[in-house]
This record gives sequence, structure tokens and C-alpha cells, in this order.
Amino acid sequence: MAKSKTHVSHRQYDDEESGWACMNWFEYMLVVVLASLLLLGALTLTLFWALYYAGGFAWTEEPARQFNLHPVLMVAGFITFSGFSLLLYRICRCCRRIYVKLFHTIFHALAIPCIVVGFIAVLDSHNLADPPIANFYSLHSWMGLVTMGLFALQFVVGFFSFLILLCCEGATAAFRASLVPIHASFGITTFMLAVATCLTGLTEKAFFKLSSKYSEMPEEGIIMNALAMVLVALGILLSYAVRREPFRTQVKTFVTERL
Ligand code: HEM
Repeated sequence: MAKSKTHVSHRQYDDEESGWACMNWFEYMLVVVLASLLLLGALTLTLFWALYYAGGFAWTEEPARQFNLHPVLMVAGFITFSGFSLLLYRICRCCRRIYVKLFHTIFHALAIPCIVVGFIAVLDSHNLADPPIANFYSLHSWMGLVTMGLFALQFVVGFFSFLILLCCEGATAAFRASLVPIHASFGITTFMLAVATCLTGLTEKAFFKLSSKYSEMPEEGIIMNALAMVLVALGILLSYAVRREPFRTQVKTFVTERL
């Protein structure tokens, strides 16, 4: 007897799961573990650089050290929190979609205060410097503005779609379905753009701080380059993880829950 895909039972889902090839599980676990290590590693390396090489943190009383909050909070918000949010949303196989969406929203919401304070820190470090430093003169700062704009747009659209899911699930299904591919492709674009923005920021900082010593490969330069390579690895791994078809089996099963 033909069964409707939308009314498939959890039992049937379990059966489909057990059919998932051993190789798929191995690849899946490898991607999840590696991505988690890299997401936490990026934040740890940024913190280590800020504390050990750049003199730690301060607020407006010391604009030069206030700047150090900028890379740490931007990496925390745009890379670590947003990266976990993307990973969880696309490849979580253990919970109902509604909980996955809730955690996706919570992780992105956690990124917001990091991004806001990170942005205020860099603005203050320019405006309160003696003499003040010009704002928005660099490619990095322009890319940063586009990244923050896209992030804000994505959050508003995602949050709005989650709200209408909670209040009128059935009536809004078609509308939410049309939003899914747009939200998904802009999501990975925002992450890649954040990686590129961090790379330009790191290069700029390495030249400002180390100037001609950079080419002598000092320890600090190596740490900054290592952080940049972790970010590049994350760009590759996360775009692979979210596009990998077998990781999304569950999404196909619960058709109504995916929207
Ligand atoms: C996605 C993450 C990031 C975003 C959205 C971002 C955004 C911005 C913006 C908008 C400015 C301009 C502030 C102004 O003109 O007053 C700026 C400045 C700066 N950022 Fe970032 N940033 C990010 C990550 C980083 C990282 C990881 C570093 C590494 C150290 C960094 C280093 C700098 C430096 C050195 C400046 C001052 C020079 C300039 O204005 O270009 N940024 N950032």
C-alpha cells in the first residue's frame, strides 16, 4: 500500500536511518567532528592572539586595546556561532525540525551581541584615537558592512518565517517553502563573505602591526596565518557539509517539518 511521504512514521524513519551506509556515517562523523574542532579552534586562536600578542582587552579608556575586542567578537559571532548554527540546521539528524530551527535561531541570536559590540569596539578605536583614524576607507571595512547587512537581512527573514510557522503552520507552508532556497543560499554566502572579510582584516592587521618584519616570519605572523588557514578550511568544509545530499536524508522524509 502506498504511503504518503508527509505521514511517514518515526519508526519508518528509523528503518531508513539504519539503512544509511556505514561509509556515510563515517563521513558524516568526520565532517561534524572536524568542523566543530575548526570552529572552536578559530575562536581559540583569535583569543590567544589578542591576549598573548596584542596586549589583551580594554574599553574606551584605551582605544588601541579596545580594538582587540573587534577580531575576537567578529570571529565569535560570524564564524563560531553562525558556523555551528549552519551546521546544526543542515545536518542535525537526531531531533525534530522544530527544535533544530529553534537552536538555529538561538545560535544566530547569540551572534548578534558579539557583532554589535565588535563593531562598536572598532568604531571607538578609530574615533577615540589621537589623532582620530578615518572610518570606512578600506576594502575590509566595505566588505564588513556588506557582511553585516546580509546577516541582518537573513536574521529578519528567518525570524519572520519562524514566527509565521508558529502561528499559522498550514496556511503559510507554500510561502515558507519559497523562502527556504533563498534563505539557504544567502546563508552560506554570508558565511563565505564573513570568512573573506576576516581574511582581509587579518592581512591588514598583520601589515599594520608587523610591517616589514612580517616577511621575516615572526611567531605572531605565523599564528595569524594559521588562523587564516583555519578560516579557509572552514569555508571549504562548511560549504561541502551543507551541499552534501546524503546528510539531508531526514529533511526529505519530514516534508512538512522542513519548511
Ligand atoms: C566578519 C568579520 C568582520 C567584520 C564584519 C568586520 C568589519 C569591520 C568594519 C566595518 C570596519 C571599519 C570600521 C571603521 O571604519 O571605523 C573594520 C575595521 C577593521 N577591522 Fe574588521 N571586521 C571583521 C573581522 C576582522 C578580523 C578577524 C580582523 C583581524 C584582525 C579585523 C581587523 C580590522 C582592522 C585592522 C580594522 C581597521 C582598519 C580598517 O578600517 O580597515 N576585522 N572591520
